[in-house]
Amino acid sequence: MSNSGHAPVLLAEAMEALALKPGGTYIDATFGGGGYSREMLGRADCQVIAFDRDPDAIARGAALSESAKGKFTLQQARFGDLAAPDLVDGVVFDLGVSSFQLDEGHRGFSFQADADLDMRMEKEGLSAADAVNRLSETALADLIYHYGEDDESRRIARAIVQARAAAPITRTLHFAKLVEDSVGGRKGARTHPATKTFQALRMLVNDELGELARGLSAAERVLKPGGRLVVVSFHSLEDRMVKQFITARADANGRGSRFMPDLPPERAPSFTLERRRATAPSDDETLVNPRARSASLRWAVRTDAPAWDDLDPPELAPKAEAEWQKLN
Ligand SMILES: C[S@@+](CC[C@H](N)C(=O)[O-])C[C@H]1O[C@@H](n2cnc3c(N)ncnc32)[C@H](O)[C@@H]1O
Repeated sequence: MSNSGHAPVLLAEAMEALALKPGGTYIDATFGGGGYSREMLGRADCQVIAFDRDPDAIARGAALSESAKGKFTLQQARFGDLAAPDLVDGVVFDLGVSSFQLDEGHRGFSFQADADLDMRMEKEGLSAADAVNRLSETALADLIYHYGEDDESRRIARAIVQARAAAPITRTLHFAKLVEDSVGGRKGARTHPATKTFQALRMLVNDELGELARGLSAAERVLKPGGRLVVVSFHSLEDRMVKQFITARADANGRGSRFMPDLPPERAPSFTLERRRATAPSDDETLVNPRARSASLRWAVRTDAPAWDDLDPPELAPKAEAEWQKLN
């Protein structure tokens, strides 16, 4: 993707899953470049309430806020805190980072451009450089193994600690090279050897899994009966969480609980699933937009049962998360 914009991934599929209707109200939890919001407003005479945690995305949405006045609102907020004045007909999440964030080299999300090792979506708080320079070797290995799903985590963590003993690690390219050298290059690999380590850092710095857990529960609370929850995710940890969230809530009185007829009412299914399998992008889409390669869409329909207790964020990398909490 060039730096000319963000090509929305699985756009038609997400709109179909939302089943937009005139007069409906929809939440775009991840405005980004506004591709989903614009499409919703174009397809149906509806209201869209959009969120993004990145101030640059909010600035980018000013033109749409003006042209779609009365139909569209955009606010800087984390989707973990999303709320709406009335129940809504659909909530869509398009997770991860936008091409704007990746292509604007100075944000430090990418190893394609030299920049401060930053990665903060909100431009506030501790950065990726803080994680790299201040977490212990054990915590770094834990992080890269569990969030990055990288088997070379220990070797990478050791190289980081050795390098920072000489001087703090502050730049993306230096860091990417350090990771690459520590694993000996990985010749023939389709992705850069630092890809997973960058992903792990980004997830930690922005508490992405915690946000997703809170966001899914918030969506469950704001959806009206018949409302649609639609989630596009980009890596297996997110997709697994979404899958577990909706299948647990859809199976409560179905397959999962047929031996427990006396379930308390709060465990009645809060979603139904019309399609259990995830939707992947077409070959045509991945050809023109390689960022779509790892995308996966899941959706579910809200029932009239009460929302379940909030989903607990998974503690996948407890050593890293505990040290990070102390630094924060
Ligand atoms: C993949 S982009 C969305 C692209 C958008 N659907 C489009 O078509 O242009 C993801 C966006 O979600 C935002 N984001 C990620 N986590 C968030 C969170 N917890 N709360 C709010 N926004 C978040 C990012 O800042 C980024 O702008």
